[in-house]
Amino acid sequence: MIAVGTPFAGNEIDLDAVREVTRAIGTALRGRSRYHVVVVKSTVVPGTTRSVVVPLLEQASGKQAGRDFGVGVNPEFLTEGQAVEDFMSPDRLVLGAADERVHDALERLYAAVPREVPRLRTDTTTAELIKYASNALLATAISFANEIADVCTALGDADVVDVMHGVHLSRYLTPLGADGTPVRAPIASFLEAGCGFGGSCLPKDLRALTAHAAGLGVRLPVLEAVLRTNEARSDALLDLLRPGLAELRDARVTVLGLAFKPDTDDVRESPAVPIIERLLREGASVTVHDPVVRMLPEELRGDSHRVALAASLEESLSAADAVVLVTRWDDYREVPKLLAAMEPPPLFVDGRRMLDKREFARYAGIGT
Ligand SMILES: NC(=O)c1ccc[n+]([C@@H]2O[C@H](COP(=O)([O-])OP(=O)(O)OC[C@H]3O[C@@H](n4cnc5c(N)ncnc54)[C@H](O)[C@@H]3O)[C@@H](O)[C@H]2O)c1
Repeated sequence: MIAVGTPFAGNEIDLDAVREVTRAIGTALRGRSRYHVVVVKSTVVPGTTRSVVVPLLEQASGKQAGRDFGVGVNPEFLTEGQAVEDFMSPDRLVLGAADERVHDALERLYAAVPREVPRLRTDTTTAELIKYASNALLATAISFANEIADVCTALGDADVVDVMHGVHLSRYLTPLGADGTPVRAPIASFLEAGCGFGGSCLPKDLRALTAHAAGLGVRLPVLEAVLRTNEARSDALLDLLRPGLAELRDARVTVLGLAFKPDTDDVRESPAVPIIERLLREGASVTVHDPVVRMLPEELRGDSHRVALAASLEESLSAADAVVLVTRWDDYREVPKLLAAMEPPPLFVDGRRMLDKREFARYAGIGT
């Protein structure tokens, strides 16, 4: 099972690690007489298994795929922060293969997964695309909510939290459960305004899919706009800060959260990074707090003399002119109480619409 990283490298995904392990597996197959199945679990653009992995395996093994060994694609849908739980209880098993023997082998591999979990048997390229299409849909939901938030901000008397709540109440998003009570569909949590998506998957997968489709002669204007809208979230946040501060230059701004989302220490493509970079460019001095991330992300290390990583939430807030909440950590439920004790109260900017605006003396929030 190949599960190495596939970062996006400018124009396409970097397949170096996939190639390296594929060659190693192929070489190992050379000396084997028994039938083996090689499975691609890494997220790879549609067609990669057919056009890159299979030829490399055949070359390195001197054997023929489909006859001497099998090749499958089994994309991973787990959510970071709940990886083990999601792996043990997946929502679906997408089993891509060119032949039934591989499909059967994959089903046997997952025999311990409850029978109710749907198994989708398909070909390798379709399986690869299912992964990208799934992430593209989630990213689209996020950028959609963020565009509605910008309309609310411009209106001045509409609140995106209520707007999206009203949208969620549709039967499509909140169907009635077996006992007649409404059940909110989990996708509703992606239809919430904030400071954008990040992490190691959504941005990278969207860029990879749009670039790969362009190479096939297909433009994906919706998904290109999803990325552009996401990249503009740091502007939206700075626009909330500006009116409340005499000047951003020399203002002391505390950024709450470095992880791209709660329950992980992953800072890859975290929305906090472009926000901090923008603040530094504008001349603000920045203090950052995160309950689990204990090191500045690589992109900010060159600026480490201008960005302080606070040891505690209290310390991070102590000298702030403004506080910007970027990651929805539960720890930040304490923030209203801590800020209420400060004189004069700093401006609080809620980049996730996590806290009750009535609890702040000076408040600005996304989409309100
Ligand atoms: N992280 C997620 O939540 C997630 C979810 C779904 C899919 N994916 C996909 O899974 C793949 C892996 O993602 P990740 O987040 O685990 O990446 P990662 O960079 O955290 O981990 C990759 C692992 O591969 C190892 N590796 C790299 N080159 C190797 C080599 N030549 N030989 C052996 N091992 C090697 C690294 O040491 C590392 O342990 C990617 O394609 C990603 O898109 C990740």
